[in-house]
Amino acid sequence: MLKIALLYGSTEGQTKKISEKIRESLIEKGHKADLFNLKSDQKQIKLNGYDGAIIGSSVHIGRHQKYVLKYIKKNIELLSRIPTAFFSVNLTAYEDKAESQEKVKGFINDFLSKTNLDPVITTAFPGALKFSQYGFIKRKFMKKITSDVLKKEFGEKSSDINMDLELNKDIEFTDWGEVENFTEI
Ligand SMILES: Cc1cc2nc3c(=O)[nH]c(=O)nc-3n(C[C@H](O)[C@H](O)[C@H](O)COP(=O)(O)O)c2cc1C
Repeated sequence: MLKIALLYGSTEGQTKKISEKIRESLIEKGHKADLFNLKSDQKQIKLNGYDGAIIGSSVHIGRHQKYVLKYIKKNIELLSRIPTAFFSVNLTAYEDKAESQEKVKGFINDFLSKTNLDPVITTAFPGALKFSQYGFIKRKFMKKITSDVLKKEFGEKSSDINMDLELNKDIEFTDWGEVENFTEI
């Protein structure tokens, strides 16, 4: 049995949901896993005593949460003594184009170079569009910057004006089987 610290940053809740799924999956496999929101729970974290740590963070305007980077940088000495894994949650990971996959690698490499984290494994999970949480302007902005993602999901219909109705709902792109596989390592 391993004792794992799950540390995450999540702005709209998808990375939290993914972290909860990872925790559930680790517990099913007989491990102990404690979940910490790096925005609110930093003071409760005692990294001593964990056999490993999994760090998750989402991308907004090309960057992971500053408070996640700051925490990892501050605690890098302890984190370098145990095996770590890092996952990034973003929407570029849902795009098939080679250049999108390069972009995703760039997000991850940027995080690793800024924090000096040296994880045994890194991955990216496609996140979600939480249209129900976005205001008018954010919704328009997100529709614009995610046109490739929406095209893949809805085909040509994605440019239809009627999509406005559809886009008041949340759309989840995360592959939960992929998340489950991540805990096999
Ligand atoms: C304002 C905003 C900016 C975003 N910028 C990016 C981006 O630059 N690249 C990307 O791949 N995804 C981007 N996303 C998509 C998020 O990474 C995705 O919604 C993810 O599920 C958010 O995870 P969270 O709910 O844990 O914060 C953005 C989302 C929002 C709302």
